[in-house]
This record gives sequence, structure tokens and C-alpha cells, in this order.
Amino acid sequence: MTARIERIDALEILDSRGNPTIRVNVHLDNGITGTASVPSGASTGENEAVELRDGDAGRYGGKGVRKAVENVEGRISAALKGRDPLDQAELDQIMIDLDGTPTKADLGANAILGVSQALCRAAAATSGMPLYAYLGGVGATHLPIPMMNVLNGGKHADSGMDFQEFMIYPHGAPSFAEALRYGAETFHALKKILTKQGYSTGVGDEGGFAPKLKSNDEACDLIVEAIEAAGYRPGADIAIALDPAASSFFEEGVYRLSRSGQGDLSSDDIVALFRRWVEKYPIVSIEDSHAESDWAGYSAITAALGDRIQIVGDDNLVTNTRFIAKGIAEKACNAALIKLNQIGTVSETVSAIQMCRKAGWAYVISHRSGETEDPFIADFAVAMGGGQIKTGSACRSERIAKYNRLLEIEHALGSRAVLGA
Ligand code: PGA
Ligand code: ZN
Repeated sequence: MTARIERIDALEILDSRGNPTIRVNVHLDNGITGTASVPSGASTGENEAVELRDGDAGRYGGKGVRKAVENVEGRISAALKGRDPLDQAELDQIMIDLDGTPTKADLGANAILGVSQALCRAAAATSGMPLYAYLGGVGATHLPIPMMNVLNGGKHADSGMDFQEFMIYPHGAPSFAEALRYGAETFHALKKILTKQGYSTGVGDEGGFAPKLKSNDEACDLIVEAIEAAGYRPGADIAIALDPAASSFFEEGVYRLSRSGQGDLSSDDIVALFRRWVEKYPIVSIEDSHAESDWAGYSAITAALGDRIQIVGDDNLVTNTRFIAKGIAEKACNAALIKLNQIGTVSETVSAIQMCRKAGWAYVISHRSGETEDPFIADFAVAMGGGQIKTGSACRSERIAKYNRLLEIEHALGSRAVLGA
């Protein structure tokens, strides 16, 4: 007999930054409950789906999510009650229609996504399958190579770096477990180097170190040194991936590198800078090199470097087929960052990925800087098979939860597991 949705409840919990977020429980009439928690970004794109916050200054500085909880327990629960949890696309569409706004501003994308993800979990459990197999089928055997954010700057840390993320990418490893080991060992080598040079080793929002370095270049130099100190070959075993998140330092039409004292750069200067860096450092991927409004800048860097490295769009594409289509038409990138809460349902996220695949684009499944212990994206990354995940450094349990889940999945897949796309 088909299971039916009996009731949906939700609660306000805290994310890794101590801000409220939502956890949703979907209860089925066969006794199964699917649970999911929703993350939250700091360097958000302007066209992201709306995260509904209470705006009551007397609670959590206005960041409470009681209204989103109310929307789940009231209108959404009533609309989905009695439905088959396996009808994911249909149920997501019911919520999209119930909301009625283009940005999910009425019910809140946090409320809708929490339900959408919890539905997947309930449906997977009812089907007797692990989440990655339920979402990805028998072909879901590809583990993602982790982009590990070992130096945090921009809006994620009060460090010396204008650029938000300096990541290591252990693409030379033979398995996910080995890739994670390469990354963790390099992270520890970097800590030793920073300590020796008198830098702080406190970490930022995504678990990377946040030292007051003298320049953005120094960050790359230190990473190369750490890769070697850990016994790996820069480029061959471990490469570098960057997310400058350039919208966060784009002011009055210029790229203002004020923290590092490197002055104001034009859109073309940014292209020239990364052209030099790609020559000098083993960089394989650059995300948001330009501000989200500077589409010409994205197209210029893709024209200059797109045949050599991955150019990823995040803030400009916001996991939305409307903007990904524009990016494809304008050759603005050759890859997309994929964040479920930028668009607000699992089905729409899958559509965004399908559009990338059709265009021959790569895609990277990503966490947010404000995370929870929910490892949903680990299963989702294996299910989607794109071969890349961005989920932080080698510390902070909200990041490690995803890595540990990927280890578990690789273990379960045994000899069928493959690293990368
Ligand atoms: P966010 O940062 O979660 O703060 O938006 C992640 C990113 O820019 O990729
Ligand atoms: Zn980004």
C-alpha cells in the first residue's frame, strides 16, 4: 500500500553561526518520518529565493523563523496532507503554486526547501533506499572531489584576504577517502606553516584559517607551500580552486581590494590578475571572479581562461534556470555552483543541473557558509553525479558531517565507487 503524508511539523533551530534556521519533519502514515534542516548564506546573490525571517527585533535581532515554521505547519501541511511522498516534482509544484511569487517570498524558500528535502528523506526511507540511491538510481556511484576551503576571507572571516575562498582540490587522489586525507593533511601542514610565521590559526565560517595576510597572492603561496609540506605535488595531486565572491568587494563600479591594500581594479584588471595567477599557481577553478551584475566581466574571463580552467557562476546564476540560460547564451561561465536554498525546491535544483549537463557545463554541489549538521548535500552530490562538492575545510562538525557521510556512502558502494565525474 502506498504511504501517505499524514502531518508536517517544523521547529526553529540554530545554524553554525548561531542564527535561527528551520528543521522540518514530514510524517507518513506508515510511521516513517523524514527530517531535513536548511542552511543560510552570507554572501548571497541578489536573485536568490527569499529566506523568510520574522523581522521581530526583540528575537534574534529579527532573524527568527517562526513565520516559516507557521507556514510549514499550517498552509503547506494542509496542502500536502494525504499525498504520496514519492511524487516529489508534483509536491514541489504544489508548494511553488501555493506560494505564488517568483522568489518564494510568501511562504519562504526556507520553509519550502525544508519540506522538499524532508519529503525526499521520507520517500527514500519508505522505498527502503539510502537517499543517494533514491535520488540518483543505480548509476549513483560517483563520489565528488571535495573543494576544501582552507583560507577564509571576504564576508566569511575578518582576515586579511579580500577574496572569500582559497580551496584545495585533491583531484589526484584515487578515492574519496584518500582525497579527504590529502586535504586534511594539507590543512594541518598549513596550520604549522601559519604558526611558524606568526599568523593566527583561528578559523572562519567555513573552517578555513583566517590570518591577517599581507596580500591575496600570499594566500596562494602559502597553500602551495602547505601542499608540498604535506608531501603532495601541487597541480598533480592537489590543485587550487578559488571563490573571490567578487560582488562583496565591488563598489561604485570598481573592485576594491582594500583589505590587502592592493587598490582598485577594473573588470579587465581582474581578468588580467587571474590570467597571471593561472600561470603562476596550479589553479583549476575560479568562481565569481566578477560581481553578479558584471556579466561582461564573467564573459571576458570565460573567453580568456575558459578553455584551460573551470569558470563557475554562483551569485549571478543562483541555481535558477532563468539565469543559467542567460549564462549559457552569453558564455559567461562553463560551470555552475548549485545551492538548493538559492532556488528553494529539490525539483528545481535538479532542473538547474539538467540544464548544465545539456550545455556541457560542469556543476559543483555546495553548502552555505551558515550550515547545520544535516548532510543532505552529500547524498545529493552522489545522486547528481557531477563529481564535485564544496563543503568547507577539514574542521567544524557542520562541514565534517558532509565529509563523513560521503565516507559512509563510499564504504557502502564498495568496489562500485568512483571518484569524480
Ligand atoms: P555563502 O557563501 O554561503 O555565504 O553565500 C558561499 C559562496 O559564495 O559560495
Ligand atoms: Zn560563491
